[in-house]
Amino acid sequence: MQFDTIIKNGTVVTASDTFRSDVGIRNGKIAALADDLGDAGEIIDATGLYVMPGGIDSHVHLAQPSGDGIVMADDFASGTLSAAFGGNTTVLTFCMQEKGTTLRESLKDYHAKADGECYVDVSFHLVVTDPTSYVLGQELPALVEDGYTSIKVFMTYENLRLRDDQILDTLDSARRSGAIVMVHCENEDAIRYLIGRHEENGELAPKFHALSRPVAAEREATHRALSLAEITDTPVVIVHVSNRQAMEEIERARKRGSKVAGETCPQYLLLTADDLDAAELEGAKFVCSPPPRDKESQIACWEGLQNGTFELFSSDHCPFRYDDDSGKLNERGKRNFRWIPNGIPGVETRLPILFSEGVSKNRIDINRFVALSSTNHAKQYGLYPQKGTIAIGSDADIALWDPQKTMTITNDILHHGADYTPYEGLDVTGWPVRVLLGGKTIVDGAATTGEMGQGNYLRRKSLA
Ligand code: URP
Ligand code: ZN
Ligand code: ZN
Repeated sequence: MQFDTIIKNGTVVTASDTFRSDVGIRNGKIAALADDLGDAGEIIDATGLYVMPGGIDSHVHLAQPSGDGIVMADDFASGTLSAAFGGNTTVLTFCMQEKGTTLRESLKDYHAKADGECYVDVSFHLVVTDPTSYVLGQELPALVEDGYTSIKVFMTYENLRLRDDQILDTLDSARRSGAIVMVHCENEDAIRYLIGRHEENGELAPKFHALSRPVAAEREATHRALSLAEITDTPVVIVHVSNRQAMEEIERARKRGSKVAGETCPQYLLLTADDLDAAELEGAKFVCSPPPRDKESQIACWEGLQNGTFELFSSDHCPFRYDDDSGKLNERGKRNFRWIPNGIPGVETRLPILFSEGVSKNRIDINRFVALSSTNHAKQYGLYPQKGTIAIGSDADIALWDPQKTMTITNDILHHGADYTPYEGLDVTGWPVRVLLGGKTIVDGAATTGEMGQGNYLRRKSLA
């Protein structure tokens, strides 16, 4: 037989085209796009379904060290299984440099956590927290050669943030090495000042998390990051953008000729700061940084997804259990918002939310959906065209979507390790009903047919 699998009668969707075609798969790759492909070991009937590239979520935190007594709710097994059920076939997670150690040491530990555990393909961004001359001068160039082609730096969080001179050194090394730099833009000093004021006033409930991280702190840091990137001439990604003023900084930098990509996330489309003011300590479920803003910011983020300010729509999946001493409601977190771990789960709900709120509600078309959810991530992070499209020679990483299927998002249908979803009760139209990784079905309806360990580690290209 010419093909291992043929997907018949579906509508193929890429970032640029929508067309009727069958898809022939051989040895894990897309081998033909045509009708009447003949026979195959397996025929999948996709009548009424969209045949789309599997989602690529390029902003996912799994198995990350998270501070004293705090444990992330997902390891690679649960996090990548959850990703698969959400229509994803690749996730990019963060390998955090432990201060006082090298990137290679951190990578050794992080690979050990992922090896043999993954249901979908994975690749790691490097988080630089200790930019010594050895790390920037020797390690980073060699690591880019080895396929670790993206790094993240933080401008906030006391233990993670870099000073401006360190950011400049890191950007400079990244440019020379051919790495792209993701930047978390919030002004740590302003935030610490505001946290101090709230503490003095006895304002300790979860809602003060949002009030201590205002738009001005994000806007200022976004402007500064873009200025430093302009000075060093380094391409950057401004991650998890929450509001119009930060978006305007990205647009202005682009007009000046800077190479900058923008990313936003579901929480900035559906949540607001009011969610942090829920009764009792329920607001802790929505504590993430930057915090969700207001309705106008949601409108702004939709505009950015429509007009290209954002190329990337990622989850920033950073899961902690809620009702748990090692999660949101740890002993100190119950008493003071500053100890509530930052981050919310979302790797499984990212694509149904974008499909339903975006495509089904006519805010974006189906090709833009593919671009925002898959293709642009592959292009941005050196995986295209192996990943992120339906084309001959690409990996047969495919999600079959039923555009009519209605579902209500509740935590009990999800596969992550968290004990809640921020989107409990949300009705969605459009759902990934079957997911193939390298031509093999890993999710079929509500069932897993994939196996732990079948996801591979991906070395990536440098785009510089
Ligand atoms: O609150 C968030 N976003 N936690 C995840 C870590 C990060 O900054 O991306
Ligand atoms: Zn961040
Ligand atoms: Zn993040």
